Amino acid sequence: MTVMQVDDRHIPPFILSMPIRKLFENPYRTLSPFVKKGMTVLDHGCGPGFYTIPLAYLVGEKGMVYAVDSDRKSIQALEDKLKKKGIKNVETFLSRDLSFIPSSSIDFLLSKDVLCCTVLHKELAKEIERVLKPGGRALVTIRRGRGKDPRGISAEEFFSLFEYIEKRGVSRFSAWVVLNKR
Ligand SMILES: C[S@@+](CC[C@H](N)C(=O)[O-])C[C@H]1O[C@@H](n2cnc3c(N)ncnc32)[C@H](O)[C@@H]1O
Repeated sequence: MTVMQVDDRHIPPFILSMPIRKLFENPYRTLSPFVKKGMTVLDHGCGPGFYTIPLAYLVGEKGMVYAVDSDRKSIQALEDKLKKKGIKNVETFLSRDLSFIPSSSIDFLLSKDVLCCTVLHKELAKEIERVLKPGGRALVTIRRGRGKDPRGISAEEFFSLFEYIEKRGVSRFSAWVVLNKR
């Protein structure tokens, strides 16, 4: 079996939105060290918005959130939530690449458990660094553990794709890097 032929994996939006997730992940605690009012931020592989909505509140009315996912159902679920909550500072994009985002335009980028779901991980690692402003930061995570990456790519291999690593580590469910573009 040639596992590299798997296409992007789409986790059903209802799983990513399950209330039980809040017991294990606190988006505000994760994002607060990076995100300030008025920033332009990008939620890469946003899913149905578990992190997008906290990002929208953290950047405030004068900030902007770009939310990108390659799964139509996830984007639709996110748009429904935005409408229900009256959130106006999020722009959604259905895309599996970031080529439409201008270079050096993003203050903070979150790519939470996405590179381990896509065959485009090498291209996207370059794109993540391209879109950051000088001084801009990114938090990139991949999921750890059995069966999390069907291609068996290690965290070392993923993170060797980045030039601007500020720090890195592992948590209960993820391996992560913080990028800081010089
Ligand atoms: C494990 S989910 C994480 C979703 C979200 N970041 C969260 O933490 O709730 C991975 C997401 O990445 C999306 N995805 C996979 N490949 C992608 C690509 N090439 N471009 C954009 N999104 C992608 C999937 O559709 C899915 O919504």
